[in-house]
Amino acid sequence: MTIVHTPVMKDEVLSFLKPLGPDPVMIDCTTGEGGHSAAFLERYGDLTVIGLDRDKDIQTKAVERLSVFGGRFKPVNCWFDEYFETAEAESADMILFDLGISVFHYVESERGFSFRSDEKLDMRLDKDQKLSAWTVVNKYGEKEIADVIYHYAEERYSRRIARAITEARTQGPIDTAGQLAAIIEAAVPPTYRHGRIHPATRTFQALRIEVNKELDRISPALAGALRTLKPGGRIAVITFHSLEDRIVKWFFKERGTGDGAVLRILTKHPVVACPEECESNPPSRSAKLRVVEKLGEENGHDD
Ligand SMILES: C[S@@+](CC[C@H](N)C(=O)[O-])C[C@H]1O[C@@H](n2cnc3c(N)ncnc32)[C@H](O)[C@@H]1O
Repeated sequence: MTIVHTPVMKDEVLSFLKPLGPDPVMIDCTTGEGGHSAAFLERYGDLTVIGLDRDKDIQTKAVERLSVFGGRFKPVNCWFDEYFETAEAESADMILFDLGISVFHYVESERGFSFRSDEKLDMRLDKDQKLSAWTVVNKYGEKEIADVIYHYAEERYSRRIARAITEARTQGPIDTAGQLAAIIEAAVPPTYRHGRIHPATRTFQALRIEVNKELDRISPALAGALRTLKPGGRIAVITFHSLEDRIVKWFFKERGTGDGAVLRILTKHPVVACPEECESNPPSRSAKLRVVEKLGEENGHDD
């Protein structure tokens, strides 16, 4: 088994999240290939990690990788917001969210996440779910497609792209990521075509978010995580684009200011990856880390 994903800001996350006492529990809400989980299990010999991921394929890789830690790694195949609906209150010392998808999804999953591939348009993390990127592209109305692309990626050419998609599919279904990328490329102005990012980047991000309801899950999950955290425990969230970061920032701000505050914000400004990490691990370039501590009478950290 080859590991293709390098955990982002691992050292920074390790420096913020610490056990509150013996036999600590960490919830890794986005285990992926288990990079962060492995680092924590190595550092703390009495730690148990509950590792969530909705994607069964990547979770199989994590289970194999983390089998050296025996029963200290407990995988759960679920959406993270759903997990917290039934999680025991005040049971976790630390909770990590490393949002979005993994390098695995682009290079190994064969689900059309990359516009550079010619894989079937799919993009589902839960393969049992009905809605896929194919359905959005081939069955949604033109306005619906434009709204998805605009709201989930702030794509300024959302309308043109939606028009081009609905026109193209009159000739037959748009089946692959490559087909869709070519349609987008032809629909946008030449300056945009040769810009800093590939013209299909934003549309592909938006489709993925729509299919997996990525943004809708963040606030309910954070609320559940806060309830599940022991007083004095910490939540760390790594985001990869401004829409995610905005949700996290406001969630924490609302609960971290004023008389009724239930948490303390530990990162007034989000932490970003150092230049060396940005150089060696490109996905870290857009990453932002925010950390909060749950207020409470007992426990707490020294720093
Ligand atoms: C950025 S990767 C995590 C990488 C991981 N920290 C590592 O070091 O390998 C995010 C992972 O979270 C999963 N994921 C994304 N959103 C999820 C959600 N709402 N519920 C459960 N899993 C989710 C994805 O399938 C993916 O494997």
